[in-house]
Amino acid sequence: MQALETIGRPDHRELLKQRIIARTARVGVIGIGFIGLPLAVAHAKAGFDVVGVDHDHIRVAQLTKGLNYLRDVRDDDLASAVASGKLTATTDFDSIRDFDVIVICVPTPVTASKDPDTSFVRRTGELIAAQLLPGRLITLESTTYPGLTEDVLRPIFDTSGLKAGEDYFLAFSPVRSDPGNVELSALNVNKIVGALTPACLDVATTFYKQTIPEVIAVSSPKVAEITKVFENTFRAVNIALVNELALLCDKLGINVWEVIDASATKPYGIMRFDPGPGVGGHWIPLDPFYLAWAARQHDFHLRFSELAAEINILMPQFVREKVIRQLNSSGKPMRDANILLIGMAYKKNVDDWQESPALKCMYLFEADRAIVTYHDPHVPSFRDRNGRLRHSVPLTPERLGAADCVCIMTDHDETDWDSIATHATSILDSRNATRHVEHDREKIVLL
Ligand SMILES: NC(=O)c1ccc[n+]([C@@H]2O[C@H](COP(=O)([O-])OP(=O)(O)OC[C@H]3O[C@@H](n4cnc5c(N)ncnc54)[C@H](O)[C@@H]3O)[C@@H](O)[C@H]2O)c1
Repeated sequence: MQALETIGRPDHRELLKQRIIARTARVGVIGIGFIGLPLAVAHAKAGFDVVGVDHDHIRVAQLTKGLNYLRDVRDDDLASAVASGKLTATTDFDSIRDFDVIVICVPTPVTASKDPDTSFVRRTGELIAAQLLPGRLITLESTTYPGLTEDVLRPIFDTSGLKAGEDYFLAFSPVRSDPGNVELSALNVNKIVGALTPACLDVATTFYKQTIPEVIAVSSPKVAEITKVFENTFRAVNIALVNELALLCDKLGINVWEVIDASATKPYGIMRFDPGPGVGGHWIPLDPFYLAWAARQHDFHLRFSELAAEINILMPQFVREKVIRQLNSSGKPMRDANILLIGMAYKKNVDDWQESPALKCMYLFEADRAIVTYHDPHVPSFRDRNGRLRHSVPLTPERLGAADCVCIMTDHDETDWDSIATHATSILDSRNATRHVEHDREKIVLL
């Protein structure tokens, strides 16, 4: 029998589900960056009216014109979503009132002291709460520590006077994406959803099932939150393990890549990870801090993830040490050395240079008074920490030949490794990008 107090009240859950299934629900994506934009395009492609909300006027203007600004989004997908009127963008946060489904994709960085900076999520939550109407679904996609959705966002939304699970629905559903991997996109990777109540879960899974092929429900937002940071911490820890192996192999005079190749032949019990100049991007360097912070709230120390961060942070220093050794072997000091970095992006085939190990190496070399230039077709220019605009230089035989050390930082697919080996005089290859180059091996030093 229906409870007395619900008689006469609209069934927001069923009404919202009907609107979602009929694609009449309007979707607002708050934050149209690396994560928000592909999701916005995916939901528009699935037939929803989607509005991207961001305070970045440039991104909003570009999206409004149907112009793509991210490599991982297909130009024609975005252009056709905009041309069909299914995808629009605005800087007007009052539009939030009109959305049936609100997807939060704002940044979750760390503070200077490496604690979670959840101010973007909180501010967005407050803006939503001020305009929250009954029958809305809010999902958080930004990576976070276990507890943010339930312990921080819910109280903010509750200030609206609406009741979670009855009037509004709240879930956490982390983005799974592999930047640079064209086979995997926001559209075809399965998705975890954890929600506040069974009703919230019902609405949230109904929404995601319209767009994502497989939706995996977990018992709470906390489980979904920790799953996401665990996945990234797993990666950070395993990268640290192979990086540490690289440090040891260097001392033993063993080629670490040969060891990795050999171990990868084992048909069970091993998963391949490659060493490199360090970790970068938005999450691998940052997410372990979210988990470590959450652990500290319970007087618990996550030694694995902290150690992994420590080792990975050291790798640019190791690259510096190797370059110094390489220059020394030809009687050159680091001061005034001409160093050409190949790659500024943090990993192959992406245009994201934030937190990139190449950037960290560049600062280290410049602190030693070296003259550093870079080549990266994916990062034509960027502004460094001093506000200086840096530009990618063309990769010519003359430039390669003039460099005292060519330092391979990113192994983008289209790079001509043969040409680099032919024209450079000395190469430090931190990615084993030159593995198939058979000539000029004497010039190449591996990490
Ligand atoms: N980049 C990735 O591949 C990746 C992968 C998994 C998870 N994540 C997570 O996704 C979240 C977003 O990351 P991203 O890479 O998309 O960041 P991003 O910097 O590319 O994009 C964030 C966007 O949010 C906007 N923004 C900031 N504050 C806002 C506000 N208050 N209201 C509206 N817009 C606001 C910014 O202008 C920007 O356009 C983070 O929590 C990140 O950890 C990112």
